[in-house]
Amino acid sequence: MPKAYVPNDKWSRRASEEGYRARSVYKLMELDERFRLLKKGMRVLDLGASPGSWLQYAAAQVGTKGTVLGIDLKEIEPVARHVATEVADITDATQVEKILAAHGLPEIDLVLSDLAPNTSGIKDIDQWRSIELSQAVSAIAQHALKPGGTCVMKILRGADFDPFLAEAKRSWDSVRTAQVEASRDRSREIYVVMQKR
Ligand SMILES: C[S@@+](CC[C@H](N)C(=O)[O-])C[C@H]1O[C@@H](n2cnc3c(N)ncnc32)[C@H](O)[C@@H]1O
Repeated sequence: MPKAYVPNDKWSRRASEEGYRARSVYKLMELDERFRLLKKGMRVLDLGASPGSWLQYAAAQVGTKGTVLGIDLKEIEPVARHVATEVADITDATQVEKILAAHGLPEIDLVLSDLAPNTSGIKDIDQWRSIELSQAVSAIAQHALKPGGTCVMKILRGADFDPFLAEAKRSWDSVRTAQVEASRDRSREIYVVMQKR
């Protein structure tokens, strides 16, 4: 008989016990506690959403009067009736635009991104890919968020991080950063919370 998969770190074990699809959910929970991100009735866009633990948590927080749309390169198993999912590359601006229009989502309250590039194993390349994804997320969020809306994104910190943050401070009303307990690599992984004018 094949042995059942037993997650070997405390966050993965907790996720499996609590019915979440990934340990990443505890990062969003911590960010939500700290920044009060999710509220009933909100419209949320989650970029890089597979396998869907952020979608599960966001769906519960916004309730059935809210909506959540998740986009990922990979197919996502259904989450709930008020959660839609699409397969797409978020760096393809035209495709993202079409998806948002199809879901009637020009006015979004919160953009989330836990995007992680496929890692090459070469630190500088992975970090640069992370910044490239973050620039794409920032552009989508600037276009899709309503005034006062918030964008939260994960970034791998490296040489290109400071120029990215400086640019963000020029384009966004407020920019805050946070590290979270549940990150595997807390020294490199950082979350940026930005608010639109
Ligand atoms: C860490 S996982 C997200 C986990 C998710 N927050 C959850 O809680 O289940 C990062 C995701 O980013 C996706 N991704 C990476 N590059 C992407 C791109 N260019 N467009 C869309 N999704 C992308 C990957 O397919 C992967 O599923």
